[in-house]
Amino acid sequence: MAGELSPIDKAKFVAAKRAVDFVEDGMRVGLGTGSTAAWMVRCLGELVREEGLRITGVPTSARTAALAREVGIKVVSLDEAQWLDVTIDGADEYDSELNLIKGGGAALLQEKIVATASDQMIVIADIGKKVEKLGSFPLPVEVIPFGWQTTKALIEETLIGLDVMGRTTTLRMNGDIPVMTDEGNHIIDLHLNRIENARQLSLVMNQIPGVVENGLFIDICDAVVIGYGDGKVEVRDINSGTVEEDHIDFVENENLFSDL
Ligand code: A5P
Repeated sequence: MAGELSPIDKAKFVAAKRAVDFVEDGMRVGLGTGSTAAWMVRCLGELVREEGLRITGVPTSARTAALAREVGIKVVSLDEAQWLDVTIDGADEYDSELNLIKGGGAALLQEKIVATASDQMIVIADIGKKVEKLGSFPLPVEVIPFGWQTTKALIEETLIGLDVMGRTTTLRMNGDIPVMTDEGNHIIDLHLNRIENARQLSLVMNQIPGVVENGLFIDICDAVVIGYGDGKVEVRDINSGTVEEDHIDFVENENLFSDL
């Protein structure tokens, strides 16, 4: 129940709650993946059920698709929707220019495709995700299973020429087996500590054969909704340069919290 949520979960919830204000009747909405995005899907579902909001959702993972259907959101594929009005998603890190690291939940490929196919991308995050320089969070790189060890070695070799503070890489595991993404690929996490030139790194990574996509989102995010544990919310819009503050009352809601 709401009273038992940690301050971080409260922060994620209020960010999600504020972000659904960006969604209007009739919109096609990209639905992100992760714990913060799950709050947003629940909040949207409530608006659909209680207020008759009509939206079409394009999920960025199988688990988000399942949750969206469960809460009553109409789900279609990106090919059916073609272009989206807005995508709302979480992030693992964001900097002052709203460049991001994503993929902690291994959904970065669909997330990047969906966000790029949207008029607007809104990130929802707790304040702990803000960094001065990207890179403390290991950068996920999605690679195809064929020859992944060679791809990993090529990534390490490429990192030697780049301005980063760490260069170890690890294959992401799920117990004894490599993590498999929704697209049937593996994830290699790059422990870089600090990325001096994220744009260059992103371009160079994607040129390595076997790399499908990396978790750097450069110039994709339009606004970030930052939640705090006390209900404070900040909306930073990179295009207008504005910062708005808000406060969301944390009211316990049976529908939203019953499955926690
Ligand atoms: C999923 O692949 C990720 O990009 C998530 O959006 C990111 O890891 C944030 O997740 P949380 O909201 O669970 O922190």
